[in-house]
Amino acid sequence: MGLSLSTVTYLLVSREPSMLRSSCPALALLTLVASSLVLTSRVPAADVDFATQILPIFEANCVGCHGEEKGLGGLRLHTEEGIQKKWDKDEHLIVKGKADESELYERLVLPADHKKFMPKKGKPLPEEKLNLIRTWIEQGAAFKVVATKSEAAEEAHEGDHHEEAAAPKEIPLPEVDAADSAAIDKLVETGAQVTPLYSGSNLLQVSFALRGEPATDADLEPLAAVAAQVYALNLAKAQISDKGLAVVAQLKNLAKLHLENSSVMDSGLAHVSGLGNLQYLNLYGTQVSDEGMKSLEGLSHLRKLYLWQTKVSYDKAQAMQKAQAGLAVDLGFDHPVIMRKRLTKQIKQAEEVNKESTDDFNKAKAAFDKAKKDQETAKKRLDDLKQQLDKLDGKEPEKKDDEKKEEAKDAKVT
Ligand code: HEC
Repeated sequence: MGLSLSTVTYLLVSREPSMLRSSCPALALLTLVASSLVLTSRVPAADVDFATQILPIFEANCVGCHGEEKGLGGLRLHTEEGIQKKWDKDEHLIVKGKADESELYERLVLPADHKKFMPKKGKPLPEEKLNLIRTWIEQGAAFKVVATKSEAAEEAHEGDHHEEAAAPKEIPLPEVDAADSAAIDKLVETGAQVTPLYSGSNLLQVSFALRGEPATDADLEPLAAVAAQVYALNLAKAQISDKGLAVVAQLKNLAKLHLENSSVMDSGLAHVSGLGNLQYLNLYGTQVSDEGMKSLEGLSHLRKLYLWQTKVSYDKAQAMQKAQAGLAVDLGFDHPVIMRKRLTKQIKQAEEVNKESTDDFNKAKAAFDKAKKDQETAKKRLDDLKQQLDKLDGKEPEKKDDEKKEEAKDAKVT
């Protein structure tokens, strides 16, 4: 390196504000200098693992602006996929083996007040973190370390499926005897559709949804004779009372229950509270409220709960979701609280963009004003110098028009 320390210092303090892109030679040089300073203090490193060593750095310092919610500059750093997506579009993001040519590294070693410095408006990353990122890129920027031990492979595997692991295990389909065919006939007579869950299965799907008339309490009575076999039940739009719903409490293998737009009330949900195998419950467009949700608290297999256009509060829905791993409560995209949240988030993002561009505008305007002033000063100085030269040559400074007129008048008089 043919640079003396004073050159380095000079470069570091004499950054020009106009250095914006890495194509600028001065910036490239600066980066080179900065990174080679880092290089000298670097310990030869073992293989850097993206998931356990690099990702946590991004999570701690970058994902606030480059994460799931915000992808400023079109960059998301919270997952391998997020990085890959940007990398596919912009090959300079990471140049395998060359940290100095990788924007992802380059920006981290810029002076902290540089426009392109990352983390934006933050403090420079500590040297050991910079070294890790640098080494990772120099080792080829792989997202997965090829595991040599089966243990390591297992660990990586577990990491991959973290989300799935948190969700409840697949619930095996219950084994039941075939339903009595006479009982099925009775059910069909009410106008219900009865079909096996899949070809050859003894489990049944029963739907009253396609009847001309809404199902009533009386229509549900024949369900009792096939109680073990009913796996899915569609009571959408049914006009049933709590008494009618009592038969539903007997369907111990019921996994899926449609009650959307039905007359079900909070009190009726008490009949659902014992259905330990229930996985799906649709209460869209019903009168149920927070009170009724208490009946659902023991349903440990429940995964999907639809509450669009019900009286259930946003807070209650959130609390239920939190209390039960694997449960997704859907309040609908048109729910006021959800709409408000979405809009607030969008406004925040728009404000940020607006602020950035306003800042840019103000900076540009200040630069313009200064340039204009500089130009005026320069012009004044030029005129002044010209006049001085004219004086030296013995020329009269040019007279203004009215002065000339005055002189002409004087000449006439004399
Ligand atoms: C406070 C917000 C904020 C933080 C924190 C932040 N960035 Fe950024 N980043 C931005 C913005 C805004 C842009 C787009 C404007 C620009 O190019 O400067 C950007 C752009 C980038 C780009 C260029 C993307 C492109 O356009 O090609 C990279 C690379 C980058 N950031 C890396 C990082 C890394 C790595 C971190 C964490 C160490 C980080 N950023 C932290 C706000 C942030």
